[in-house]
Amino acid sequence: MKIKGLDVSVSGNEKNDAMIFVHGFIFDKSMWEKQIEHFSENYYCISYDIRGLGKSETGSGQYTMEGFVDDFFEVVKELKIKKAIAVGLSMGGYILFRAYERQPALFRTLILCDTRPSADSNEAKLKRAAGISLIDAGKLDDYVSVLMNSVFGEKYKEKNKKGFEDIVALAKSFSPEGIKGSLLAMMGRTSSVENLDKIEVPVLLVVGENDTVTPVSEIEAFAEKIKRKTVSVIPAAGHLSPLEEPVIVNRVISNFIHNNL
Ligand code: MLT
Repeated sequence: MKIKGLDVSVSGNEKNDAMIFVHGFIFDKSMWEKQIEHFSENYYCISYDIRGLGKSETGSGQYTMEGFVDDFFEVVKELKIKKAIAVGLSMGGYILFRAYERQPALFRTLILCDTRPSADSNEAKLKRAAGISLIDAGKLDDYVSVLMNSVFGEKYKEKNKKGFEDIVALAKSFSPEGIKGSLLAMMGRTSSVENLDKIEVPVLLVVGENDTVTPVSEIEAFAEKIKRKTVSVIPAAGHLSPLEEPVIVNRVISNFIHNNL
């Protein structure tokens, strides 16, 4: 279904508790396939393509993190979700950190995979600016290949050659304006670090042992500031832990929900 130009999927019984999944960059909602397959038995599972990525409309391509958060709220409102178990990966986590600051009452819990609450450093901003220049120079494919190679763990790439190639090909098919728009939104986002101690819901932080984008040490450092948290390190996974190790991550999420909600 479409909500305000966003491509949205729902699965499971809508009377069950809602779980909403927000994907990372440069992915679309298909990255949650194995989670949705697993959790839709007992939960009402919602996922959507972030504006400009996957099958969502690109529009102007001039995005902000606030606009991405507005989109998240539109999906929640349209589907009449009162309180959600929200699951986000990396850029999806940036959206959820900010969405929680704006409307905490909407959340039963935050399940945050391979993400961080801080805004971009100068180095990260310059890297994104270089990415935009590369895409403008017609080198989107190169940009995607380098990025994808660096985010996945070696184990996943070795054992899932075809799956990895398909994911890379999918990202290369996305709109260049949409991809640049995500980069701009991430570059301009605010920091949620100062509000971490105001998070009242239980938080699960999942991180791949070999995540080089949001390393375990960084997750453990900001986790200190969150009152009710569980940190789970996924062995041998990179930055895409739920996609790389779905069985383990699904079990971690199930246990967390069972013990905390
Ligand atoms: C992601 O996986 O969403 C990206 O690594 C986020 C980022 O580039 O900061």
